[in-house]
Amino acid sequence: MRAEYSDWSGLMINLKVKLSDRSYPIHIGNGAFEAALAEFEKARAASKKLFCVADAAVAAKHKTKLAALSKTAEIFEINGGESSKSLANVEKLCSILAEKNIDRKSCLIALGGGVIGDLTGFVASVYMRGIDFYQLPTTLLAMVDSSVGGKTGVNIPEGKNLVGSFHQPRAVFADTRFLNTLPRREFAAGMAEVIKCAVLGDRALFSMLERESLSCKHSKLPEAIRRCCRLKAEIVSADERETSKSGGRALLNFGHTFGHAIEKCAGYGNYLHGEAVGIGMLMASRLADKLAGAESGNFDRIKSVLRKCGLPVKLSKLEAADMLEAMYRDKKTLAGKLKFVLADKIGESRTEHVDSSDVLSVLEDFLR
Ligand code: NAD
Ligand code: GLY
Repeated sequence: MRAEYSDWSGLMINLKVKLSDRSYPIHIGNGAFEAALAEFEKARAASKKLFCVADAAVAAKHKTKLAALSKTAEIFEINGGESSKSLANVEKLCSILAEKNIDRKSCLIALGGGVIGDLTGFVASVYMRGIDFYQLPTTLLAMVDSSVGGKTGVNIPEGKNLVGSFHQPRAVFADTRFLNTLPRREFAAGMAEVIKCAVLGDRALFSMLERESLSCKHSKLPEAIRRCCRLKAEIVSADERETSKSGGRALLNFGHTFGHAIEKCAGYGNYLHGEAVGIGMLMASRLADKLAGAESGNFDRIKSVLRKCGLPVKLSKLEAADMLEAMYRDKKTLAGKLKFVLADKIGESRTEHVDSSDVLSVLEDFLR
């Protein structure tokens, strides 16, 4: 059971992902960017070259920070958005790194959302058979989820994240001031991942989300980010490569099996990842109730929190059978068995294999 929710008003929060000699810190809050600059200065003093892949929108909106960063790192801008997670960009970045004589002791820096983080992390994992990299997340989704845990990768036409690797960063610096320029819809999509963490493992966080409407300047936001990162750090430390037979890292996929099918069937880009995951969590709650043969009340509570965050709670024009087929094609589906994360209570979750007939009936009800 998690401690009760407390307001946080300090400057910076520090956590650790424990993975023996690959352990690393996560710094969260107003000031994390300066902490990153200090770390990069040290790396420079030790003759390491630093190369930063920066989201172009972030570079345009945070010019002073970029100017400060350019004193220690060479900066290369790439657009955010899913289409940038491509093998073409991996090749382009590797060529630039080679031209610039970036060697095995050099470090990459990912400054941006999950797209820049996943792409840069993947390049760091393959360039010269692997070099170090830092994560400087600038979206809420990247701060609470993608920058932590070492999953990296890009998309191919056949599917999202089908080419990737596990490559942990040296450190994560999540400076919440970057969120001031994040579009409202992107902020809401990040809140879906905060709600996910609350439902799967932090009841006190969920209660706080029922009481408060978080925005980028809300005093409780850094503490919410900390709680999500702490949960993810604990899960990743125990099951880095998602190999646990039950529970483990797969718990972080709560709402994702349905969510990925929504993204695919609606056409990538029509729903942001977080929006699809939000509706996916509602579907997963219906599924848990159906399997338990009783209403837990979770569906209504999650729906109300999603609404409060400005996230969609309904879907239209999708076919249940198409969604089921998309689930069978998901890379997380093994040996034709559908596995779901189910939360019987808010804050407690488990994984379970479920019959396709139960999944189909939940989809049909939901899409009616
Ligand atoms: P994103 O990186 O595309 O960023 C969303 C949009 O916000 C982009 O247009 C970007 O240019 C813009 N942006 C970023 N920071 C900004 C800022 N501070 N101010 C203004 N605009 C800003 O998307 P995302 O939602 O951050 O990440 C989604 C990606 O993350 C997906 O590809 C998903 O697969 C991946 N992901 C990875 C993991 C993981 O564990 N590796 C986990 C979850 C999601
Ligand atoms: N976002 C799921 C994971 O990192 O495992």
